[in-house]
Amino acid sequence: MIRLLYFSHAMPGLSDDQVRNILQSSRKNNPVIGVTGVLIYGGDMFMQVLEGPEQAVLRLYVKLLDDRRHSNSQIVQMSYAKERMFQNWSMGVIKTNPLKFEHIKKLLDHRLEAVHAEVFAETMREFVKQLNAEH
Ligand SMILES: Cc1cc2nc3c(=O)[nH]c(=O)nc-3n(C[C@H](O)[C@H](O)[C@H](O)COP(=O)(O)O)c2cc1C
Repeated sequence: MIRLLYFSHAMPGLSDDQVRNILQSSRKNNPVIGVTGVLIYGGDMFMQVLEGPEQAVLRLYVKLLDDRRHSNSQIVQMSYAKERMFQNWSMGVIKTNPLKFEHIKKLLDHRLEAVHAEVFAETMREFVKQLNAEH
């Protein structure tokens, strides 16, 4: 199993309805391919974690690259994972304000750095806590 984390720029003017549609597709499709994860959006950016079988995650990621509702996707972390962090979520969604998103965006600074497994794990634990508190 692998876990992949990326950031992307949301299409300007993307509405809550459009994000709901993304969520609907994800909740329909992801269980079929064994993918779980979380989608965070704040201001003009997305951050998504996809975890599941390697082929499924990579195929999905490539499919997402063609989605016009976002652009400039940047992978921040991709690693082998023994356990899921989001096993209860075919796709959880957190809407956050741009300020909070700035905090998350710090992960981008850790792109390709060896230390970032820890930073990543900690940030993800925060998300899981937030998801569980909100749902
Ligand atoms: C930021 C972002 C994240 C997305 N995440 C997923 C996802 O996890 N699973 C999924 O099936 N589609 C996701 N989509 C939507 C896909 O690009 C695509 O529109 C959808 O899978 C098509 O589903 P359908 O063939 O069932 O209509 C995402 C789109 C965006 C813009």
